[in-house]
Formats: sequence, C-alpha cells, structure tokens
Amino acid sequence: MNVLILGSGGREHAMAWKIAQSDLLTQLFIAPGNEGTDQLGVNIKIQPTDFESVKELVLDHEIELVVVGPEDPLVKGIHDFFLNDSELKNVAVIGPQKYAAQLEGSKEFAKEFMVRHTIPTAAYKSFTKNNLEEGFQFLQTLNPPYVLKADGLAQGKGVLILNDLQEAKDELKEMLANEKFGTASSKVVIEEFLDGIELSCFVLTDGKSYVNFPNAKDYKRIGEGDKGLNTGGMGAVSPVPFADEVFMDKIEKQVIKPTVEGLQKDNIPYKGFIFFGIIKVGDEPKVIEYNCRMGDPESEVVIPRIKSDFLELLIAAGESELHTKTIEFVPESACAVMLVSGGYPESYEKGKVIYGLDKVEGSIVFHAGTTNKNNEVVTNGGRVLAITSYGTDFKQALKKSYQNIEKISFEKMNFRKDIGFDL
Ligand code: AMP
Ligand code: GLY
Repeated sequence: MNVLILGSGGREHAMAWKIAQSDLLTQLFIAPGNEGTDQLGVNIKIQPTDFESVKELVLDHEIELVVVGPEDPLVKGIHDFFLNDSELKNVAVIGPQKYAAQLEGSKEFAKEFMVRHTIPTAAYKSFTKNNLEEGFQFLQTLNPPYVLKADGLAQGKGVLILNDLQEAKDELKEMLANEKFGTASSKVVIEEFLDGIELSCFVLTDGKSYVNFPNAKDYKRIGEGDKGLNTGGMGAVSPVPFADEVFMDKIEKQVIKPTVEGLQKDNIPYKGFIFFGIIKVGDEPKVIEYNCRMGDPESEVVIPRIKSDFLELLIAAGESELHTKTIEFVPESACAVMLVSGGYPESYEKGKVIYGLDKVEGSIVFHAGTTNKNNEVVTNGGRVLAITSYGTDFKQALKKSYQNIEKISFEKMNFRKDIGFDL
C-alpha cells in the first residue's frame, strides 16, 4: 500500500522510519518532510493544511492511508475534508475528525468531556471578556499559583502559571480583552494548580478498541533543571521509571478506558492517536491535557520501542479492526536528546551546515528542522535533530546519545545535558 505522512518534524521522521520497515508498504510519501524522511520515501513540498494540494497528491500517487502528524490540519478538519470528498472518502485517515480534535483544539471542550465522563482533572471555570469581572473574583477564591489557559491552539504558549494574584488578573485581562493569543484566548480556562510529576501516555484507537503505546516523559524547557522558556521539547525518555504497574493500571482504568468509552457514549468517531498529558499528584493520575496526535519528541522514543508492525496497526485502526491486534514493545529503554539552533525558542538562524552525521554509531538520528542545500544537510528550524538511543535503562541510553552528540556539530548548536535529571 502507498502511504502518506503529513508533517515535517522528528515525529514524522520516526513514523517514516518505522513504516518503511513494514512489508505492507509499497511506497512512502511525506509532505513536506525533511532531509531525514527524504532518505526513506519521497518528500513532496506541500503544506498539510493545503487540503486541495493534499488531495491532488493522494490521487496522483494512489495513496490508501494518510497519517496526520501535527494537530493543525486535524483541528482544521482534514479528516472531514476526506470524508466529504467522493474521490477521497475511501482513503484511510489516521487522525480524528474536526469535532473530536477539539479535545486538543479547545481546552474547554476537553474539560467538559472529562467532567462528563468522570475523568480526573484539575477543577476549573472558563471565562470570556463578557464575564471578566467574574474571572477576577474566581481568581481571588484560589490559592497561588494561578493557571490560565487560552482555550484554543496557541503553539504551546497558551498556558500561563503565575504566582501573583494581580499579575494573574492582568494576564487574564490581556488574554480576554486584548486577545494576547489572538482568538485562541477569546475564552480562558482558569484551573486549579496541580503539583506533581508529569508523563505522557499514548493510544492508537479506532474509536472502539485501542492499543497502548509505551509511555514517555518529555523535557519542555530550554534550560537545564527545567528552567527558562518553553520549547516544543528538548528530549524524552521511555519508559518512565516512576510509572510502575500499579500507577499505569490506574491510568488505564481512570483515564484511558473512560476516554475511549466516553467518545463512544458521546457518539464521537475517533480514528487516530490520543495523547494523554498526565500529572501524578500523590499516587493519583490527573489529566493535564489531551492531544489528538502523537507527541514530539516523545515519538522519537515511543515509536522505536514498538516491536510490532506499526503500519499493520495503522491499517487496522483505519479499518476499525484494532480489536484483532496486540502490540509488542522492545524491552530496552530509549532516550532522545534534541539538538536545537542557538537562540531557539526565540529567534534563530537557519541554513547552518550540519557536520558529523556519518560518524554516528549506535544511535538513530531523527531529523526535525533539516533540509538539503547544495548536497549538504543544513538546519531549517529551531529543533534540528533528535539523537535516539536504546539502553538497558534510560541512563545507558542517554550515555550513548551524548557520546554521539560529541561527533555532531553545526554553528550555535545547543542541547540540554540533563535529560532525565529528575527521574
Ligand atoms: P498544557 O498545554 O495544558 O499541557 O499545559 C502546558 C504545561 O503547563 C503542562 O505541561 C504543565 O507543565 C503545566 N500545567 C498545565 N496545567 C497545569 C495545572 N493545572 N497545574 C500545574 N501545571 C499545569
Ligand atoms: N512534547 C509535547 C507535545 O508534543 O505536545
């Protein structure tokens, strides 16, 4: 079968790497892809949100299965676009329809879903500019820190955690009255602060059955010790050592099952990945967020730990046959360390030649922001490469990644030297 992956990051390279190993694959296309995916299939330079161009590509290359990497095309309704088009409606799309993608695209939708299905999460209230005063009053009833969340997608920047009441009120006003995050913050969810350690869990579901993927923990801040600005993710490890069997069982019973069953009860079709952002408060799991896609850089450790044929699972999800499948993992741990451009997550330069990739041994290099210029691999984004390794535990895996990183260089390369520091 011919398969198309939409996206261009490390997540999509990891998916391409795994799908390329499947006997079920005929030809692989990635749009727009990066220099890494170019080695595994055919990159086509179109954007995933340009649905008409995606259609042309799918018809031209007789694509039978489309895996949607990022959330943006899902929230904008790419799956619905396929279902509503007579030429595309039989193409399997892995990624939920627009309505269900609100689990990620609207914090309020996600909170209402969790409350409806008794899924543990932080207490909350939501506000618009019409009840800003009530928002101020609600903040006064809470203890600091105050958690303010823009309802819509805000490129990972829409969550503010503030210690000072006045600052929280000012920010609430900025978000609601002055559209700090554009229309994404025309509604704001204010929620109870949860104190604990986070992890990410993933399932692939066809809306009825699901398979659990390995869990992972990512490191979002730019600076060591989890300090500084938020990024897309600076590294990840899988499995998460503190998530023992008892805790994972709680997540399954209290979060994962009720979520998939909740989708069914609400008559919400869902074919794709669900990403559960979980925080462990005491010994109990609470949901911080849902995403309607795989994580990045979590994919760069989760997918390499899947032993089963990933494409076979995707096909089964597309055909609503996941109940016939099981999933196997490799026993080793995996880690990924992200190499980023100097300046990221603020402004940074592109087009820097990357040296030493051919010297890497015993790690997998997943490309994120890379491209080809004059037959050289050059940087093309903030997050540039994920260096993934296996080990008997995450420390062994990290040692390998850091050894290989010493062989790689580009101007102003930056990375965190403390991935896994808190485990
Ligand atoms: P979100 O986009 O909802 O995942 O939030 C981004 C980050 O903010 C999360 O990964 C957490 O680190 C933090 N966060 C979100 N909600 C809460 C909360 N209720 N309590 C504590 N931290 C939170
Ligand atoms: N690493 C977090 C995310 O993909 O949203």
